[in-house]
Amino acid sequence: MARDVGKTFPDGLAEVVAVRAVSLTLRRGEMVAVVGPSGSGKSTLLACLAGLETLTTGSVDVLGHDLASTGRRELALLRRAHVGFVFQSYNLISSLTAQENVELPLRLAGRRAAARLRASAALARVGLAEQAERRPAQLSGGQQQRVTIARALAVEPDVVFADEPTGALDTGTSAEVLRLLRGVVDAGGSVLMVTHDAAGAATADRVLVLRDGSLVEEIGRPTTERVLAALGRAGGAT
Ligand SMILES: Nc1ncnc2c1ncn2[C@@H]1O[C@H](COP(=O)(O)OP(=O)(O)OP(=O)(O)O)[C@@H](O)[C@H]1O
Ligand SMILES: [Mg+2]
Repeated sequence: MARDVGKTFPDGLAEVVAVRAVSLTLRRGEMVAVVGPSGSGKSTLLACLAGLETLTTGSVDVLGHDLASTGRRELALLRRAHVGFVFQSYNLISSLTAQENVELPLRLAGRRAAARLRASAALARVGLAEQAERRPAQLSGGQQQRVTIARALAVEPDVVFADEPTGALDTGTSAEVLRLLRGVVDAGGSVLMVTHDAAGAATADRVLVLRDGSLVEEIGRPTTERVLAALGRAGGAT
C-alpha cells in the first residue's frame, strides 16, 4: 500500500526529513505495529499513509485507491465509510458530548439512522456508557482517548490508523483497547498502530521499527523481548 514514501518538512532555511523511502503493505486481517524512538517519524508516516499529509516522495494506496490520483471528495467518502482514525491528540470536538462526537462520522457518512445505537454501543465497549453525555473537558485524558477509539470503531472500519491508542491508558484499559483493535482484524479489517509500548506492539502480527525516518527492522513474530531489543538497536528509550 505504500511505496517509497518520504516526507520532508521545511525548517527555516534547512529542512527536516521526517520519513525516508518507506515501503510497506498492510494486509487484510493483519495488525501491524510501528515502533521507534521519539522523533523517528512514526506519526508522520501514519499521517502520510492515512492521507492526512501530502507526500514528498512515493505513493500510497488505501483500499485500492491511489491517494494522489483520487479526488478530495471521493477520498473523504472513502475515509468516512471505511477508515477509522485514532490520533495522538484526540481531535474531539469540544462543544459536542462524547455520544455526539462518536456519532459524527456516522452522520457524515449518511448513516444517521444507525448513528445513535452504534455510538452508544461503541461507547459501552470502551467502558464509557455512563459518560456519554459529557463533553471532552469533563473527561480525563484516558477517557477522551477511549472516546476517540469508540469513534473509530463505530463506523466498523476496514482499516484503522491509530497513533498511540493506549498512550494515556492504564494497563487494564490498554489491554481492552488492544482487544477491540484485534476485533477489527478478526472481522477482516486491518490495523496500523503506532505505539511506545513494547508489550502492546508484541500483540501485533508484525512490528516495524523506525529510526530517523527509515524502516530499519521488521519483526515477524513479535514478543515483548524482541521488540525491546529492536528498540535498543534503534536508539534506546522511546
Ligand atoms: N509539521 C511539522 N513541521 C516540521 N517538522 C515536523 C512536523 N511534524 C513533524 N516534524 C518533525 O519530523 C520528525 C518526526 O516527527 P514525528 O512526529 O513523526 O515523530 P514520532 O516518531 O511520532 O515521535 P513521538 O514518538 O515523539 O510521537 C521530528 O523531527 C519532528 O520534529
Ligand atoms: Mg508521534
